[in-house]
Amino acid sequence: MQVIINAAMTIDGKIATRKGDSAISSKDDLARVHRLRSAADAVVVGISTVIADNPKLTVRLVKGRNPARVIVDSNARIPLDSQILLSASKVRTIIAVTKGAPKEKILKIKDMGAAVVVAGAKGNVDVSKMFLALEEMGIRKVLVEGGGELNWSILQTGIIDDLIVTIAPIIAGGRSATTLVEGEGFAKISDSIKFKLIRVLRKRSGEVVLHYKPVR
Ligand SMILES: NC(=O)c1ccc[n+]([C@@H]2O[C@H](COP(=O)([O-])OP(=O)(O)OC[C@H]3O[C@@H](n4cnc5c(N)ncnc54)[C@H](OP(=O)(O)O)[C@@H]3O)[C@@H](O)[C@H]2O)c1
Repeated sequence: MQVIINAAMTIDGKIATRKGDSAISSKDDLARVHRLRSAADAVVVGISTVIADNPKLTVRLVKGRNPARVIVDSNARIPLDSQILLSASKVRTIIAVTKGAPKEKILKIKDMGAAVVVAGAKGNVDVSKMFLALEEMGIRKVLVEGGGELNWSILQTGIIDDLIVTIAPIIAGGRSATTLVEGEGFAKISDSIKFKLIRVLRKRSGEVVLHYKPVR
């Protein structure tokens, strides 16, 4: 499995404002993300991103095929009127839940055309188990598009191959604004995950796209 994390953040490391506005990237950078999507077998996001943004997660700004959409959603909270579920009969959609997710909601999700994968007994979705299940479904290349909580869980598994971050020349501030990586975090810098910078792209928009690979 190849796993890429892609995100856009402000100079101060926020991926959304304190009110959840995440319209950070330029159209040009969004087209780059759509190209990445079309080269992936699946795009993976956390349920809070679906609730905040109601995204489609399809390929629209470039020509290319749609990847499967995978929503990491322990308790099957995904709204039945979300763009993801409303388009689930047309674009492959997988909702990753735990055994604790309500059965009736799972039936409704399946009725709308989405597949449901159970990964973990309770608490959060076990992302390692989820990736194994996705592999069994023929998914080999995954693009993780956040948010911060999911980025932390996936970074912790140590299975990521690439981290691509766009830094937009803006500052959003806000102590409650979501940052690139949330979760518990490490206590010591010596424990943190180390990366090497392999490419820098400077855009006319003033954005910088940084491509990192983890140091193994
Ligand atoms: N700028 C960007 O590139 C970008 C990209 C994506 C999102 N965003 C922004 O980020 C914000 C949302 O980020 P977020 O950090 O609050 O949430 P998130 O990562 O999108 O979703 C987190 C939620 O996913 C569920 N989840 C299930 N299993 C999990 C696991 N193993 N690890 C982590 N989460 C798991 C949990 O909810 P349950 O307990 O209910 O399952 C958890 O609260 C939004 O404002 C969105 O606009 C920005």
